[in-house]
Amino acid sequence: MGILGKIVNDILWNPNTSILSYTLHRITGIALVLFLFLHIWTLSSVFQGPESFEKAVKKFDNPLGHTMEYTLFLAVTFHLLNGLRITLVELLALAPQQERLLWAGLVVLGIMGLYGIKLIF
Ligand code: HEM
Repeated sequence: MGILGKIVNDILWNPNTSILSYTLHRITGIALVLFLFLHIWTLSSVFQGPESFEKAVKKFDNPLGHTMEYTLFLAVTFHLLNGLRITLVELLALAPQQERLLWAGLVVLGIMGLYGIKLIF
């Protein structure tokens, strides 16, 4: 069984906050790396002149584009909050509080997610 199969198996047979947050952190981390390529490709159209740049940016000015932006916003916010949690837990030896910190982060994510709906759509 490959690594991916093992992770899916662990989640199915023993779902817990640690494996779920670890998996989401990895998925969002990889998604952010992939987004960077799309971002640089879109922005690089600036070298073909202002009209070309306008055209490239306008491609995302529709409901699908806004949904992609919102998904990116949720992914980067989750990754940021969970990354801060991991860093705090490791630096300040907060392992006993790590689950509580995860839930606090999810509450902040929820609030920012609601605010993001107002901002993006
Ligand atoms: C916004 C601020 C960010 C913070 C606070 C943050 C924090 C972290 C931390 C603490 C880890 C290590 C997780 C662990 O030890 O289990 C990590 C992993 C990672 N981050 Fe970030 N990160 C941030 C932004 C980004 C960005 C912008 C990208 C992509 C361009 C990114 C991509 C990744 C990847 C690919 C991993 C490896 C995931 C894994 O191996 O499971 N991160 N991040």
